[in-house]
Formats: sequence, structure tokens, C-alpha cells
Amino acid sequence: MPDWDCDLYLKFERERAQAARDLISRIPPLAPRRIVDLGCGPGNSAAILAHCFRGADILGLDTSEKMLEAACERAPFARFLRQDFCDWTPEEPVDLIFANAALHFAPDHHQFVPKLLSFLNPGGVLAVQMPNVLQDAAHALMRMVSVDGPWAERLAPVAKSRAIIGSLDDYYAWLAPHCRMVELWQTIYVHPLDGHDAIVDWFVGSALRPFLAKLERDEAPAFLAHYRRELEMAYTPQADGKVLLLYPRLFFVAQR
Ligand SMILES: C[S@@+](CC[C@H](N)C(=O)[O-])C[C@H]1O[C@@H](n2cnc3c(N)ncnc32)[C@H](O)[C@@H]1O
Repeated sequence: MPDWDCDLYLKFERERAQAARDLISRIPPLAPRRIVDLGCGPGNSAAILAHCFRGADILGLDTSEKMLEAACERAPFARFLRQDFCDWTPEEPVDLIFANAALHFAPDHHQFVPKLLSFLNPGGVLAVQMPNVLQDAAHALMRMVSVDGPWAERLAPVAKSRAIIGSLDDYYAWLAPHCRMVELWQTIYVHPLDGHDAIVDWFVGSALRPFLAKLERDEAPAFLAHYRRELEMAYTPQADGKVLLLYPRLFFVAQR
């Protein structure tokens, strides 16, 4: 799959960062010395973490070369490493493991989440936010368009593979036996975007990437035009021309 387009991803930085801020705001009082930011992306969350936890050593892990380049430039006060977080083991226990919009890329959360907890110092915190989009209209339309066109055979497997995140019950069951405190919540963010093209851009920079990767280069415009037409039917513009992108996200903060 082609690497991330950092500029397109950051086109919606304000909206995407809100979830990171909300996640940090629910972390219990903590003076972390060592923070690890899993799937750190272009350094946006590292910058917020550095602001909130002054003096902490922040290590960002990501597999994307472009994201890491952007992160090094954006947050020179932190360290960044090209590392698959599924295979990562810290050299020393950590005080805060933070993962904003990243952990849904990891499989087997029933094993992975307890493993991450085991990397924490006593009193350390695991703070996670993940898109929770199984029921979401924009994602359902993405899957629908992917099986309605000359690309159907290639895209059907992508449409069928969905994020493997668990339910609130699942996360509670996986966290509670190891933690003194577990908080779970869900939020549906309402983002007023500049029309249907902006919704397309939002997803070209994120959830559409695996679909686009399977298209021939000259198929992408027709695929995106089809997707846009479907979005037009599902998202009614407001009086000022904005469209409201509803984005459900699942959060948890767990203290060991
Ligand atoms: C949606 S972005 C989130 C970026 C950032 N955390 C934020 O708050 O905006 C997901 C990031 O996770 C990274 N990622 C996905 N799977 C990964 C893995 N297995 N190991 C390390 N990084 C991964 C991607 O490269 C991407 O930069």
C-alpha cells in the first residue's frame, strides 16, 4: 500500500486532534517520565503530549516513513522510531502508553491489550482512542461502492475485512483484571466540513487508503466520483453549505 499522505491527513488536524485532547483530559493525575505514543503519525499527538506532560521522555512508534519524517520535523523534542507496535517490547517499563487512532490497526486485542498493560509501571496508564465505525454511513457507503463497479472483485476482500476492534464489554473484560481503574466511553464527533468533497478528502487520507491501493491509477477518479454521489444522498448540506460528518470513536483509559 502507498505510504500515508501526511498533508492530506493533517488537512483535518483540528478535528482529528480533538479526540487526542479528549483522551488526554481523562488521564488521571500522573507525572509520567516515560511516554510511548503508538502509531504516532505526523507527530501531532506527541506535540500535545509534550505540552501536557512537560519534561517527559516521549517516544513515538510508527511504520510509515513519511509520517515519521513529518513527526521528526514537527516534534524535535521527542524521539521517533520506525517500529511495528505489534512487535514492540519496551526496554524499560513505561508510565504512559498512548494510542490515538492507531490501535485498530493491530489484530487480536484480547491478547494485545493485556500485553500493553504488562509494559506499564504500577500506576501507569494505557490511554486509547479508536474509530468505531462499523455502523457508520460513510464507511458503509465505502464498502457499498467498492463492490459496485469494475473493481468489485479486487475490492470485495478489502470491504469484507473490517477493523477488528472489540465492544465496550470486551475491553472492560480484558482490562479490569489487571487494572485499579478502567474508564470506557464513546463519543460521536460532529464535524462540519466544507461539502462532500471534504468528506471524500477526509477518507482518501485515511480509511479509503486500502481501497485505493487496489485500484488501477485511472480507476480512482471514477471510484471517488461514485463514492461522492452516494455521500451526496446520505449527507444533506446545511444552510451554509457545510455537511456534518458524524464520527464515532471508542475510548478507554486504564490505570495499572
Ligand atoms: C490514523 S493515524 C493516527 C496518527 C496519530 N496518532 C494521530 O493522533 O493523528 C494511524 C497511524 O498508525 C500507524 N500505524 C498503523 N499500524 C501500525 C503498526 N502496526 N505499527 C506502528 N504504526 C502503525 C500508521 O502508519 C499511522 O501513522
